[in-house]
Amino acid sequence: MVKSAPHEGAGKPRVAILISGRGSNMAALIKAAKVDGFPAEIAVVISNRADAGGLASAEAENVPTVTIESKPFGKDRAAFEARLQATLDDHRIDLICLGGFMRLFTAEFVQAWYGKMLNIHPSLLPSFPGLDPHAQALNAGVKVSGATVHFVTPETDAGPIVMQGVVEVRDDDTPQTLSARILEIEHQIYPEALRLLASGKLGLDGEICRLAGGAGVCGTLISPRPAG
Ligand code: GAR
Repeated sequence: MVKSAPHEGAGKPRVAILISGRGSNMAALIKAAKVDGFPAEIAVVISNRADAGGLASAEAENVPTVTIESKPFGKDRAAFEARLQATLDDHRIDLICLGGFMRLFTAEFVQAWYGKMLNIHPSLLPSFPGLDPHAQALNAGVKVSGATVHFVTPETDAGPIVMQGVVEVRDDDTPQTLSARILEIEHQIYPEALRLLASGKLGLDGEICRLAGGAGVCGTLISPRPAG
């Protein structure tokens, strides 16, 4: 098993959060990292859109922000990533958390950050990757859904799974109500997944992510719960 090395330098690993929108996961990560003893420091928030709501929230928390508008780069992903990498270097970044970052990377960029870049997606991957995962879940009639934190690989919303959280799906759910319930879970599991990565407790066994020392058991969820 290859142990994920969070960083080479002294001190806590320095994290960049990449966003494109409101940044509620970003806010959850910033909040968690402010608590004494959290093993990582949020060093910068980078947005590929100047109008991302999360930028103001990060600034309000005194976290440095950088905007690199991706639109002018068009399909030239490598040029965008060169600017991004320069910003990551400037801020001496060890780990990346994607929080609703809606831009695909080249395989080269992903490879360079493999084992050090996390993403969160609002479904129980490998089910329902891509767009509209909540509508996908409702259309499939699944009885539980949730959120997944995973290492980023070149394939969208795929890669070794670090942590998942589950919610029941209700008969009267809409994409909005399901999304709101899943978002609460996202805000719980993303800081926990970053904590594990930053403290060197995650190992990659091929495509499988394992927890050093094994995982605790927290029960089962049956949905719908049979009456009686
Ligand atoms: C979150 O629900 C996140 O899981 C999702 O975008 C939303 C961003 O919200 N990510 C994806 O769908 C990735 N494929 P936020 O900006 O409030 O964190």
